[in-house]
Amino acid sequence: MREIVAVVNQKGGSGKTTTVNALGIGLKKKGYKVLFIDLDGQANLTMAIQADQSKGNMLDVLTKKIGINEAIQSLVTGDILAGDEELFKADIVITDTNREYAMKEAINELCNEYDYIVIDTPPALCILTINALVASSSVIIVSQAEKYDLNGVDRVYKIIDSIQKQRNKDLVIRGILLTMFRERTRLNRDFARLMHEIAKKFNTKIFKTTIRDSIVVNEAQAKNMPILNYAPKSKVAKDYEMFVEEFLGDQQ
Ligand SMILES: Nc1ncnc2c1ncn2[C@@H]1O[C@H](COP(=O)(O)OP(=O)(O)O)[C@@H](O)[C@H]1O
Ligand SMILES: [Mg+2]
Repeated sequence: MREIVAVVNQKGGSGKTTTVNALGIGLKKKGYKVLFIDLDGQANLTMAIQADQSKGNMLDVLTKKIGINEAIQSLVTGDILAGDEELFKADIVITDTNREYAMKEAINELCNEYDYIVIDTPPALCILTINALVASSSVIIVSQAEKYDLNGVDRVYKIIDSIQKQRNKDLVIRGILLTMFRERTRLNRDFARLMHEIAKKFNTKIFKTTIRDSIVVNEAQAKNMPILNYAPKSKVAKDYEMFVEEFLGDQQ
């Protein structure tokens, strides 16, 4: 295993799911063996991979209803541990004292040799997000270059910082990825500059690659397809390909 990557931002609509599917498919296209994990009850990643929501999810695994290896679906689009609306109940159902480490233990049981596990997280700093951060080796924060997102990044950083101090000292913040970016607008550029300052404060960076705002992403979503499969030649798919290159380049 090279890396377990969680993609986070507690704000909905910041581009998490799109980034997870593009990163996962991009790594797969490079020949790596990838596992997707969908921790969001909205199951948008599961829909994009066209997986079955009823075949077992992470909550089923954590409550020992099903083993992690059994729950994984191997599809043409990719291997996935699917999401389902049951995941919304996670905070009520998971009550053990060692509950933050449950996902880490489950992932340790994986038989299949994956190079990368990419984890889509819900838009909340809930028990599943905490579990994902404890189980991961790295984290990508996605954000739009907008005011509310600046505050969101601040909050998400505090959680990551406390996880690093208390539960997972090896967790690396890979950086902040700016999504739905409109290069030409002054407002976006100004916020991008502010975001650079925030990144510096947190000892991390903004990825050089930004992901443009493009209707093609919405079209791919409407067709239940990952963006890199739906429109591989589109500019936004190229942005994501460049992001994958940058992600891999940083690793060496
Ligand atoms: N680069 C982009 N350009 C245009 N729309 C986007 C882009 N990225 C995501 N979206 C759209 O924004 C919405 C939220 O994106 P999503 O990836 O689902 O975010 P999250 O998982 O953080 O809620 C979706 O409708 C998606 O199609
Ligand atoms: Mg999502």
